[in-house]
Amino acid sequence: MSSKKKLYALIGHPVNKSLSPAIHNRMFNKYDLRAEYITIDVKNLNDFFESDHIENLDGFNITMPHKEDIIKYLDEITESANEIGCVNTVKIKDGSLMGFNTDGLGARKTLERFIDLDDKRILILGAGGAGKAITYELSKYTEVCVLNRTQKEAKALERFGTAGKKLNFTNLKEEIKRSDILINATSVGMDENVSPVPKEVLGSELIVFDIIYSPMKTKLIREAEEKGCFIMDGLWMLVHQGYKSFQIWTGKEPSIDIIRKTALEKVSS
Ligand code: ATR
Repeated sequence: MSSKKKLYALIGHPVNKSLSPAIHNRMFNKYDLRAEYITIDVKNLNDFFESDHIENLDGFNITMPHKEDIIKYLDEITESANEIGCVNTVKIKDGSLMGFNTDGLGARKTLERFIDLDDKRILILGAGGAGKAITYELSKYTEVCVLNRTQKEAKALERFGTAGKKLNFTNLKEEIKRSDILINATSVGMDENVSPVPKEVLGSELIVFDIIYSPMKTKLIREAEEKGCFIMDGLWMLVHQGYKSFQIWTGKEPSIDIIRKTALEKVSS
């Protein structure tokens, strides 16, 4: 008798533009797994947990605006998810819900794919959900400074052993000069005409990673490219997160190149 088809989902609002169904369904197919990945538009978490969906799912990803509120519905979360205060991946086994955060790992794996992090100083812009996770992860490996529009949030990350300051022109200019890698973890750049960093403070030696993947070529990435910087786009982060969720759920270790190719095909379709 064949086993029951497994069901995975992305929950959040909005979810209709997600690339995750294309990525996971391609991987399920590749590994011949009887499984499907769908999107479920969830405005209210209580309603979701009272619906039939939860009975049928084997795991799910969580996106805006529920990454923090989801925690109270889970049976267990990893130490890193607890430190960060956000969960973006849940595995369901025997009715028990286990929460993970893959944002930090996604960013670290992206960087390590291209560069050696040893002795690199990293400047992170943004101390929201993604900024916190990336700061938590990278500060275990190297020196990190965080700049955030709301200074209090940047200061709060000093508990991870980083420096935290207000995001303003003076601090940005000074910190960029002292850093090898710049990561944009703010939401500034989703509008393709806006960048969190004035072009004039970018130097050609700087490595620039923008975690925004829509648009893929943010204004920051375009201007950094024009300045001659080494650049990494946000699709890399999504690809590594997709990899990690797939591994948590299935135990398989899919090819990063195939995931990236699938995501690129979906973006350009
Ligand atoms: P995510 O889960 O994607 O990290 P988030 O938790 O809402 O989203 O965080 C958004 C980040 O972008 C925050 O660091 C936010 O700064 P504040 O903490 O001051 O809100 C930052 N951000 C959003 N709009 C911004 C803007 N116009 N200028 C600078 N930073 C901005």
